[in-house]
Amino acid sequence: MFVLKIVNNENLKQYNTFGINTIAEYSVRLEDESNVAETIEFAKSRSLKTLILGGGSNLLFTQKDFNGLVIAIRNSGIETIEEDSTSVLVKVKAGHDWDNFVEQTVLMGYSGHENLSLIPGLTGAAPIQNIGAYGQELQNICEMVEYFDTEKMKGKIILNRECSFGYRTSIFKESIKGKFIITAVYFRLQKGFVPKTAYGSISEKLSKMGVTKPTPVDLRNAVISIRKEKLPDPKVTGNAGSFFKNPVVKIEKLKILQETFTDIPYYPATEGYVKLSAGWLIEKCGFKGKREGNTGTAPGHALVICNFGEATGEEIISFAYKIKDSVFNKFTVEIEPEVNIIT
Ligand code: FAD
Ligand code: EPU
Repeated sequence: MFVLKIVNNENLKQYNTFGINTIAEYSVRLEDESNVAETIEFAKSRSLKTLILGGGSNLLFTQKDFNGLVIAIRNSGIETIEEDSTSVLVKVKAGHDWDNFVEQTVLMGYSGHENLSLIPGLTGAAPIQNIGAYGQELQNICEMVEYFDTEKMKGKIILNRECSFGYRTSIFKESIKGKFIITAVYFRLQKGFVPKTAYGSISEKLSKMGVTKPTPVDLRNAVISIRKEKLPDPKVTGNAGSFFKNPVVKIEKLKILQETFTDIPYYPATEGYVKLSAGWLIEKCGFKGKREGNTGTAPGHALVICNFGEATGEEIISFAYKIKDSVFNKFTVEIEPEVNIIT
């Protein structure tokens, strides 16, 4: 019989990339998905609030204590489910390190996910905000998501088309929020290779590397190199990547903004809308590289809020809201956190 190994009063500092000190009243590591039901039953029987923890790279603890049960997802493994002449379907367990999965499968010659290299965190969290980078999004390679429905207390598999994927969103952030534990994700990877090199400085980076006909490994290396130049390493400086999402506004709104801010950058979005650059808006408000006590924005990227010392979650959130207010006052544009705020 499975015995829950519950730990009392564990400090979660090393389990969140912001490096915030938060004490979990109870915590448990889930190394086998077959134990999800018992774990949830335990929490329900004691009316404990729960928090599902992946790699802790997209959340901010704002309290000194988490009163409830933290369930760290730690099941791991990659399995080939089916294969034909052009593609493979792989099942990746939720607790498997995302970039380890990308690295292993790129080295096997599979492609489709190489632009998503070096994104921190675990595979189970990846569908939740439909991770994206360098012209690729998870929704283009994810076939199905397996999860445990914590209300109905049973396992389910949903297909890509049922996931309501969008820019940094999915069904997991909307209609079924807080009612699921993702246990595995299925990806369709390609054997042939069509490189996606249109985004930002990828082509420039590849030519600097002396690459004219990139392989998936070359593209992965180019993306890794750009990311290392741009983003602070959370092992050195606490952060959770982009703190805010890029705001999506109506084209009419862009036109009004362009009357005053002629050089405002914008990118295509769904019909009738454009995506603005939150980093640019924040920089124009004077926040790039700005420090306030132990917190501030990264010197090289205004969208990344950092913990430069022993910042508390409260300090970080109040700095973030100062940025949000400032952007609204200057541009009348609302920027919303991408990071999950844990209260
Ligand atoms: P966590 O932070 O542990 O959790 C995130 C949320 O998902 C929480 O609400 C948590 O409760 C929930 N959750 C986690 N796992 C499960 C599960 N199995 N079942 C149910 N709920 C779960 N993101 C991008 O999209 N693109 C980027 O380019 C990118 N770059 C980044 C760069 C840096 C330096 C950092 C620190 C972060 C970056 N991120 C990026 C954000 C982050 O890496 C991703 O959102 C990642 O998918 C989070 O994974 P995680 O396992 O750390 O999730
Ligand atoms: N910019 C500035 N000042 C800054 C930062 C950016 O003006 O300080 C402007 C520049 O015009 C730059 C543009 O913003 O060209 C875009 O910057 P970047 O390429 O760094 O992309 P981003 O929009 O800031 C998004 C994702 C990142 C992802 C990159 C690459 C969001 C919220 N962020 O950042 O994802 O890695 O594109 O695709 O969509 C994350 O989600 O945590 C994350 C890091």
